[in-house]
Amino acid sequence: MKKDNYRFLDVIQETACAEFGSALEMLAACKSSNKESLAYGYFEHSKDEYFHTSTFLSLLSKAGRKYPAVIARKFRINANSLITKGYVSSEGYLIEKMPLKDFIAYVYTNELLAKQSFEKIFELVKKDEKDANQILKIMKDELRHHGMAEKYFLKYYPRLQPWQLKMYRIRETIKNKGRKFYDKNLKFLDQVLKPLYFFMAYLASRIILLIDINGFKREGINLMEIKPKSII
Ligand SMILES: [Fe+2]
Ligand SMILES: [Fe+2]
Repeated sequence: MKKDNYRFLDVIQETACAEFGSALEMLAACKSSNKESLAYGYFEHSKDEYFHTSTFLSLLSKAGRKYPAVIARKFRINANSLITKGYVSSEGYLIEKMPLKDFIAYVYTNELLAKQSFEKIFELVKKDEKDANQILKIMKDELRHHGMAEKYFLKYYPRLQPWQLKMYRIRETIKNKGRKFYDKNLKFLDQVLKPLYFFMAYLASRIILLIDINGFKREGINLMEIKPKSII
């Protein structure tokens, strides 16, 4: 099977991780918000992102069933991969690290970028009516999130210029591309280093075979008399 055939699994896995990351970020923002209306908005947003995650997980499991178990297993999701892939930082949630204004700008730009990447996913699933409708619904949600962040902006930061928002968007687009580049490099390194790991494990097994363990028999020997430098 050609590697290109796994592209769909790869895209859906990455998107599920991104959505799960957003759900956690929004939940963290909800918990740290002092304003009731803002906390409610973050909560609803987080809930949507959890639903999106579950949609992508079900798409992933449906697509994975078409592949041999050994391939499908590679596209399993675990919580750690959110950190290694850069969707959540081990140094804390964005709301803890960013000024509120930057955080809202981040949400504003990322929701739009998310909607654009779902347009590409829509192209991949459009043959299946049920899957296509699910993606369309998610796209609508992302636009709503984008609109909510925009509303907040206009209300609380009316002096923020459109070019400043554009700058936020350029910065986030570069960051997204950087994350994909990093992930690709990691996968490439894994492929290069895997034979080396296997070779080292093989060498270690040959060395172990050469060791005569009879020489280490300690039965009937007073252990206190063994040289202190002895390793066994
Ligand atoms: Fe989402
Ligand atoms: Fe969203």
